[in-house]
Amino acid sequence: MHPDVMDRLVSLCKRRGFIFQSSEIYGGTGSVWDYGPLGVELKKNLKDRWWHAMVRARDDIEGLDAAILMHPRVWEASGHVAGFVDPLVDCRNCKKRFRADDPRIKGEPGTPDAQCPACGMKGTLNAPRQFNLMFKTFMGPVEDTASIVYLRPETAQGIYVNFTNVQQSTRQKIPFGIAQIGKAFRNEITPGNFIFRTREFEQMEMQFFVEPGTDMTWFEYWKDQRMRWHQSLGLDPALLQFHQHTTEELAHYARAAFDVQFDFGGTLGFQEIEGIHNRGDFDLTRHAEFSGKKLEYVDQPNNRRFVPYVVETSAGADRTTLAVLVNAYREETVPGESEGRTVLALDPSLAPVKAGIFPLVKKDGMPEMAMRIAADLRPHYPVFYDEAGAIGRRYRRQDEVGTPFCITVDGQSTSDNTVTIRDRDSLQQDRVNADQLRAVLQERLAR
Ligand code: GAP
Repeated sequence: MHPDVMDRLVSLCKRRGFIFQSSEIYGGTGSVWDYGPLGVELKKNLKDRWWHAMVRARDDIEGLDAAILMHPRVWEASGHVAGFVDPLVDCRNCKKRFRADDPRIKGEPGTPDAQCPACGMKGTLNAPRQFNLMFKTFMGPVEDTASIVYLRPETAQGIYVNFTNVQQSTRQKIPFGIAQIGKAFRNEITPGNFIFRTREFEQMEMQFFVEPGTDMTWFEYWKDQRMRWHQSLGLDPALLQFHQHTTEELAHYARAAFDVQFDFGGTLGFQEIEGIHNRGDFDLTRHAEFSGKKLEYVDQPNNRRFVPYVVETSAGADRTTLAVLVNAYREETVPGESEGRTVLALDPSLAPVKAGIFPLVKKDGMPEMAMRIAADLRPHYPVFYDEAGAIGRRYRRQDEVGTPFCITVDGQSTSDNTVTIRDRDSLQQDRVNADQLRAVLQERLAR
């Protein structure tokens, strides 16, 4: 991996339409990003892979799409109003803000010796104060404390409060899970590193409701499943690891927690992309207490009722997209060519475009045949027709956005109805019958 891979990726993502800074023409919004035409496809493919693995391919997990705005009491019950805080330090001189645990701060903030890491002044850092990370807004026409609502800082609470609705409407029996993908918002003090830590992001969360006493067995099961899923995206196993939460890191209600970490390289190194948590009965018990409604599972055959324990898997769609991009980015020399290439070696299922389709030259019926092929394939696969510039350039443009195959119509094609298909990674070109292209692509994309 290139040491400056992040800088190069940010530039590639903007240049090729994966990711843009939000409201860029106004100078940008801090740590908020927009996904462009290729980025939205990449992230959608990733979310589809998750949804397939977690919901469609299983009969013990149900899908949900809960609203972002929820009753404000939800966040009191969940502990977010009181406890979703970071200690914040600000500098009276340069007005910059830092998390109190920022390793660049020298000395104890609030004392004359403490030094601001931005302007270097001593004694200008205020003592830490608690800063709640939830975004607040108002519901209805009156902006008073009674109308405060929050943008959800995690999707999980929408699952807990719908536990009974989902269980009773689907007649699922424990153990079973509820999964959803959706936006979450956190007013992070120190966001950054591109889409790694942002203020608006998407989570892919699943809560698995189990009988108390079986929770650690399910916890181990989900740890294993989730690591396998990340590997199935093509993430290099050497760049993935588990991090077990220490006693200090563990939330007071958590019985066990492991992060799946990915090595982003550079100054970031190994960082969390997903958390797997054994949350016991904390969430359902708290919501039952605050709402006054029973949140229990009725085990009719055995004539008993209990509050299930929850094993949670909580992945970031944007952070995993970043891991996929970092993992895929390569700069290579090409045998027999003076110019190197930049390539995104994306798993074909994630690639935004599955095939580039080119006429070798813009004459002798080649563009017409290539356009026909593109039109035939387009209802089945995202394909891209390109006739601009030298053929080598067109291959490079597709390599750079991770397109796994390039199909070229050449002089021979119009006489014998064959085309070449080039593999992004091996650079091997095979000649195939144009009528077989759909089947060939289907077979190669499934490999
Ligand atoms: N419900 C549990 C929960 O939200 P978390 O560890 O705070 O757990 C889960 O978040 C995942 O969400 C993280 O592993 C990360 O992938 C993603 N995530 C959290 N904060 C984020 C942020 N500010 N920007 C991007 N992704 C974030």
